[in-house]
Amino acid sequence: MSAPVIAIDGPSASGKGTIASRVARKVGFHYLESGALYRLIALLSLREDTLDETRLARLAGEIDLAFDDGEVLLDDESVTEKVRSELVGNRASEVARLPGLRQALLARQRAFRRPPGLVADGRDMGTVVFPDAELKVFLTATPEVRAERRYKQLIEKGIDANLRALSRDLRERDQRDAQRAVAPLAPAPDSQVLDSTALSIDEVVESIVGWWRGRTGGRA
Ligand code: CDP
Repeated sequence: MSAPVIAIDGPSASGKGTIASRVARKVGFHYLESGALYRLIALLSLREDTLDETRLARLAGEIDLAFDDGEVLLDDESVTEKVRSELVGNRASEVARLPGLRQALLARQRAFRRPPGLVADGRDMGTVVFPDAELKVFLTATPEVRAERRYKQLIEKGIDANLRALSRDLRERDQRDAQRAVAPLAPAPDSQVLDSTALSIDEVVESIVGWWRGRTGGRA
């Protein structure tokens, strides 16, 4: 039997990353931030100045990548800061439309599924990558709250940000993610939808861990 998966999907800046990594720590599972894979390919797409699907799909299968305690490594180069930039994030949502690239990333994402289990966050974890996930959560918040959260996150990191521009980018990204032909952003029919607009991070984490423990009878 394969290791259990908790899939956490949702739109940009819904808090998936923070929430998913905390849930993983609490239940003792591995953690996959699938967006970081798209961001890595976006970085390469910018560096090579290409949106060629075949080229990017090939890179997705070949690159040497590693996630080490929040650090993102590409061929041993630390690209943690670079992949977090808004420039790379926007490019990521463009390259994410390419079916060949999504296909090439499937195997890489599934390779993270190892005992004792995996918490995976992204857009299509519960719908496409791990359709057999034991628990599927779709995390949302209003666009205004998400833009504010992203703004605060950037300012705290010392990165210059503009709330108006962020809101606009977020709207564009939501639209691209929801309307693309392959793996569009949408809750899996068997997912639990969680609106985090008025909830603290701890409250969201507790809800998800509670659902998980409810399913496993407190074993994990
Ligand atoms: O930080 P944010 O939530 O905006 O984005 P992210 O999770 O780092 O992902 C960056 C981009 O990659 C998103 O805008 C999506 O278009 C794409 N993505 C995807 O298509 N499928 C995933 N499983 C994860 C990310």
